[in-house]
Amino acid sequence: MVRNTQLSGHPLILLAETVSTNSDALELSRGGAPSGTVVIARSQTGGRGRLGKTWLSPADSGLYFSMLMRPSLDPADLPKITLAAGVALCRAVSRFSHSGPMIKWPNDLLVDGKKCGGILTESEFGKDPQPLVVLGIGLNVSTPPAAFPEELQGKVTSLEAHSRKPICRTTLLQGILSAIDTIMARMEAGDFAGILEEWRSFDATVGRRLTWVTTGRQAITGVSLGPDNEGRLHIKDDLGRIHEVLSGDIRLQSA
Ligand code: BTN
Repeated sequence: MVRNTQLSGHPLILLAETVSTNSDALELSRGGAPSGTVVIARSQTGGRGRLGKTWLSPADSGLYFSMLMRPSLDPADLPKITLAAGVALCRAVSRFSHSGPMIKWPNDLLVDGKKCGGILTESEFGKDPQPLVVLGIGLNVSTPPAAFPEELQGKVTSLEAHSRKPICRTTLLQGILSAIDTIMARMEAGDFAGILEEWRSFDATVGRRLTWVTTGRQAITGVSLGPDNEGRLHIKDDLGRIHEVLSGDIRLQSA
């Protein structure tokens, strides 16, 4: 693969099959692998998503990769990387899809309202002053609908179903890595406000009714007001109270 990126994919490690590229990237980082290292697999046997969910990763029908980074960012700003990566993903994916991609806060890539990709950002703090971050991205490119389990039918999609021609996964990967390079440079230059402005143009949740299932399994229903300047989602419940969401599961009510 021709790498037209400054950072992402230097080096690029391609695996036929692995449990999880996020686990591999975390392991490599502990051994001192450089920032920018990307681990990509043709299939994963234990791909994982946020909140303990699994990420279905059948061979050769999706992109499953993780990038190791040691960004010059304050640890408090690390959750913002997920939002920044969402913008990078939308930018890159929009070149391949005739339906505009959108983001369901914080990490779901939607095409035509269905989940097509996801971002899992994990971080560790070791001896280094800079935190270690692994940015994992999973994208359904040509996954046949029948490959998805019953409970996901009608809720998930693949990019190729929204594209006029077959998608070359290498070209798509190059586009995403290049977009990540650009957005991470902007993050490190302190332009989260600009990134957030762009994020809002991809926001699939603002103004929509949704239920937030907190990590304590409490359910709060209300209307999304979108993210605040720090990227935390604000929800206005039916009593007019504003809830600030840092984590947990967001379930959109049907439109
Ligand atoms: C989510 O939707 O909750 C995030 C899904 C992230 C999946 C990707 S696939 C590559 C990388 N390796 C993993 O185990 N997970 C991420």
